[in-house]
Amino acid sequence: MAWETTAAPCPAWHNDMAAQFRYTLVMIITVDGPAGSGKSTVARELAKALSIAYLDSGATYRAVTYHAISQGIDLRDEAALAALTKRIDLELIPHADGVGVLVSGRDVSRQIRAPEITTKTRYAASSPQVRAVLVKLQRKIGNRMGNFVSEGRDQGSVVFPDADVKFYLDASPQVRARRRSDELWATGRLANRRQILQAIMDRDSSDRSREVGPLVKPDGAVIIDTSEMTVAQVTEAMAQIIQERI
Ligand code: DC
Repeated sequence: MAWETTAAPCPAWHNDMAAQFRYTLVMIITVDGPAGSGKSTVARELAKALSIAYLDSGATYRAVTYHAISQGIDLRDEAALAALTKRIDLELIPHADGVGVLVSGRDVSRQIRAPEITTKTRYAASSPQVRAVLVKLQRKIGNRMGNFVSEGRDQGSVVFPDADVKFYLDASPQVRARRRSDELWATGRLANRRQILQAIMDRDSSDRSREVGPLVKPDGAVIIDTSEMTVAQVTEAMAQIIQERI
């Protein structure tokens, strides 16, 4: 079974911690890391286990990209992309699978996960003007959420630098490529491991080299190498660290 879809943990700590969180005024937890490090799965599981909100910042870049394509905007035209980002009516809503994404009230949660959007989101992600607008939007969403786990590339470094607990998840490119191809096989899709590895390395390089909001290990972040760990082990290790801090 693919790492990303391994069954969620639900040990005893989950009820105790969820109860403690009811009395915590605001707790911001950030989870950053490269594609395939497992951060989406564990951020979602952690939020669920702690009964707090989940902020998927990548969904905002995906939604802008999807909306721009559907409006016929050339993604390389940064001014047009930034103008669209300023006027987009974008909402993230809680959803059984993590997060629902609405653009102008229309549910585009599934469409923004299409491979074409995954590849083309790099235009929005590398635009300083788009990032400036989305960083503000992510803070506004976070403000409304209260306690939350936010996941992305720059959450602990740029968007929520004062977060209470910051994590940086990593895994070797080979392990990340294996997880991705297992995931594709599990859903009956053909996967060429070498091409997947190349795509992961390309995304790493674009995420790490952009001038604004690059993927970095945020100051003070707890670094977890998930290469040899299961989802349950990673989530539990993170929960223990959070427990020590609340
Ligand atoms: O995590 P994801 O695959 O849904 O992210 C989609 C894209 O958005 C990916 O190219 C990285 C980028 N991204 C970003 O630049 N900053 C974030 N905080 C989150 C995602």
